[in-house]
Amino acid sequence: MKLCQRLALSSTLAGLSAAVILQNSSQLKESYDFIVVGAGPGGATTANRLTESSNVNVLLLEAGGANDGELAIDVPQLCVTLTPNTAWDWNFTTVPQEGLNGRTPSFPRGIGLGGTSAVNCLVYTRGTRSDIDAWAALTGDDAWGWDGMLPYFMKSEKFNFPVDGHNITGQYLPEVHGFDGLIGVSVPGAARAIDDRVMAVTAELPDEFPFQIDMNSGEHLGVGWAQALVDSGVRSSSKAYLAPDYLARPNLDVLLYARVARVVGSDEDALDLRGVEFQDGVDGELRNLTAGKEVILSAGAVHTPVILMHSGIGDAEVLTPLEIPVLLDNPSVGQNLTDHVGCSITYEVNSNKTLDNIWRDDSLMDSLIAQWKANKTGLLVDTSENHIAWLRLPEDDPIWENTTDPASGPTTAHFEFLFQNGVYPTQDSGNYFNLPVGAVSPASRGFITINSSDPFAAPLIDPRLLSAPIDLYMVRQGIRTGQRFVAAQAWDGYFVRPLVDLETDEQIDDYIRENTVSFFHPVATAAMSPADAAWGVVGPDLLVKGTTGLRVVDASVVPRLPAAHTSAAVYGVAEKAADIIKAAYPELFASAAQA
Ligand SMILES: Cc1cc2nc3c(=O)[nH]c(=O)nc-3n(C[C@H](O)[C@H](O)[C@H](O)COP(=O)(O)OP(=O)(O)OC[C@H]3O[C@@H](n4cnc5c(N)ncnc54)[C@H](O)[C@@H]3O)c2cc1C
Ligand SMILES: *[C@@H]1O[C@H](CO)[C@@H](O)[C@H](O)[C@H]1NC(C)=O
Ligand SMILES: *[C@@H]1O[C@H](CO)[C@@H](O)[C@H](O)[C@H]1NC(C)=O
Ligand SMILES: *[C@@H]1O[C@H](CO)[C@@H](O)[C@H](O)[C@H]1NC(C)=O
Ligand SMILES: *[C@@H]1O[C@H](CO)[C@@H](O)[C@H](O)[C@H]1NC(C)=O
Ligand SMILES: *[C@@H]1O[C@H](CO)[C@@H](O)[C@H](O)[C@H]1NC(C)=O
Ligand SMILES: *[C@@H]1O[C@H](CO)[C@@H](O)[C@H](O)[C@H]1NC(C)=O
Ligand SMILES: *[C@@H]1O[C@H](CO)[C@@H](O)[C@H](O)[C@H]1NC(C)=O
Ligand SMILES: *[C@@H]1O[C@H](CO)[C@@H](O)[C@H](O)[C@H]1NC(C)=O
Ligand SMILES: *[C@@H]1O[C@H](CO)[C@@H](O)[C@H](O)[C@H]1NC(C)=O
Repeated sequence: MKLCQRLALSSTLAGLSAAVILQNSSQLKESYDFIVVGAGPGGATTANRLTESSNVNVLLLEAGGANDGELAIDVPQLCVTLTPNTAWDWNFTTVPQEGLNGRTPSFPRGIGLGGTSAVNCLVYTRGTRSDIDAWAALTGDDAWGWDGMLPYFMKSEKFNFPVDGHNITGQYLPEVHGFDGLIGVSVPGAARAIDDRVMAVTAELPDEFPFQIDMNSGEHLGVGWAQALVDSGVRSSSKAYLAPDYLARPNLDVLLYARVARVVGSDEDALDLRGVEFQDGVDGELRNLTAGKEVILSAGAVHTPVILMHSGIGDAEVLTPLEIPVLLDNPSVGQNLTDHVGCSITYEVNSNKTLDNIWRDDSLMDSLIAQWKANKTGLLVDTSENHIAWLRLPEDDPIWENTTDPASGPTTAHFEFLFQNGVYPTQDSGNYFNLPVGAVSPASRGFITINSSDPFAAPLIDPRLLSAPIDLYMVRQGIRTGQRFVAAQAWDGYFVRPLVDLETDEQIDDYIRENTVSFFHPVATAAMSPADAAWGVVGPDLLVKGTTGLRVVDASVVPRLPAAHTSAAVYGVAEKAADIIKAAYPELFASAAQA
């Protein structure tokens, strides 16, 4: 686009990103080279990078709407209010989980611009070197290992300094961060009353709880400052890739309330899947569109396998009874679903400097919101915790006598702590310390499947949480480790009582089964595998095996769940995917054509 045109556009549309989103499908162009499905980290990143070349037209289809100016989405601390069962959630629950006494916990997924990254809890973690090297081993492609991926993690990242202006030397390692990318990452911008005590435990008990300077360096064991997806005090989601400057590109169109039912082949070749059938508007008509080059599915780890199955790509034994014609019998579609699990232990504390006050005192919350609006400072600029720990069961733990270590390597955690100065939702009175304990190298594997020929029926989500005994054990030992953490002298006089007494293994295990929830990190449901492998859904080039014109770029291709919150991984995967796609069409993406 010429500079004068761009200036004219940006002056009329300044700040009004909705104005450059298509009003409705009557504004669609005649043709698009790429149709991307889903505006989360996978899809928004891909759509942005492909439209760097002015030779290429991209249409991004998103099932939900825009959410600009929604306070709870923009204010980091309000993240906990965004799910489940809100306007920004798909409102799923799991099927009954045997490991959780038959309970059906909610399984939130974001809908709308930003996808799940607009409603998540902002923690930025990449996993360890061995976690990402496992991707290289599983795909047979070294480029998918840590050394190959680190430049992509950094490319996506705009590390920014915390809004309180404190000196962060010693709180992170600048050399592993990107400063010129799009998604904001920062360390906490408001001190909390427990910060000093958490740090004091690392000095008091360094063998069990060492200080970790940067959990995104490839090494993560220990206790360190949380890094969160925050840009100058505001949530940073994949909407950063759809900021007004990018939406102003004449070659990038975004259509909202466009829900894809399935991908469709051409008349000549049923496996040339460059078509999409989508619902045009809420309760609108179905219509078809065909991409010149490719359809890219970025609907996330739940919806991507569902779209594939409704398109006839999946296990014939599932599709045939539903009378969905089988295009490609691939039993891996939807399988290998891996997720993190855990539950919290909560203590009443002898202090009133906790976040509990903001959840029950409207005038306090109002004044913090006013401060956030005025200058993006104050207690609302951070996510739920200022510190996170990544810890392992000991080498000589008796469990290793009969169980294989499910972690990717000897310096990858089994469990995670999130140190929260308050609990949400809180009680009517009292002040609390809350410690979510998650199993982050789980052995359990579940699946996503369909149970209806209606492409818009809710899928069956069965993560089989705690189905592997080692996962329960990791949470139990994690809770015991948490009990040692709070027993450190650094907390002297701080704790009044635990809300639940957890002493015997039996008490702890009962508590875990009754209280464990998903930690919301599903991956691997359309996993990458070597081109010639008998399992897997996409190759290392992310093309759906056995088809042409169809790629997947989202959490579902991640072949092994890192011991990390997952959005960092998806941004990295999508940055790399964009380069893979550019390399596949040199005539479209010659460097001279860069916009
Ligand atoms: C409550 C919660 C907290 C979380 N906390 C964190 C955290 O602190 N840190 C972290 O890193 N990760 C966190 N995650 C996970 C993280 O947000 C996801 O891993 C990440 O967003 C996945 O990106 P994605 O692009 O694969 O999918 P998504 O972000 O889910 O995006 C998929 C998009 O596709 C759209 N879509 C789906 N189906 C269709 C269709 N048929 N047609 C058109 N569009 C469709 C969806 O509406 C959505 O916009 C959390 C998740 C949840 C639910
Ligand atoms: C589609 O949007 C255009 C304006 O861009 C408007 O004129 C038209 O009425 C809209 N059509 C429908 C069906 O809403
Ligand atoms: C989820 O439930 C909320 C509250 O009832 C609703 O507003 C929203 O539209 C639902 N989400 C979807 C995708 O239906
Ligand atoms: C920040 O702290 C480090 C070490 O504590 C010090 O060397 C550095 O000068 C400080 N930076 C600023 C800007 O004060
Ligand atoms: C889309 O194309 C497929 C395959 O040709 C066809 O079966 C389907 O009916 C079409 N849908 C619409 C809405 O035209
Ligand atoms: C699940 O993933 C593993 C590799 O982690 C692979 O060996 C196995 O075949 C996969 N299962 C399916 C059903 O795809
Ligand atoms: C916190 O405790 C102090 C000292 O007991 C008291 O003065 C103050 O009013 C309390 N603040 C709140 C918000 O309860
Ligand atoms: C931000 O605003 C608050 C009041 O709303 C004020 O107390 C604070 O000093 C301001 N901070 C900065 C850095 O301007
Ligand atoms: C495996 O070891 C653990 C820890 O010692 C023990 O609790 C469990 O009963 C053992 N399981 C089997 C099958 O031996
Ligand atoms: C699948 O659908 C059938 C028919 O609607 C229903 O009877 C059955 O309970 C469903 N299965 C599950 C696991 O939900």
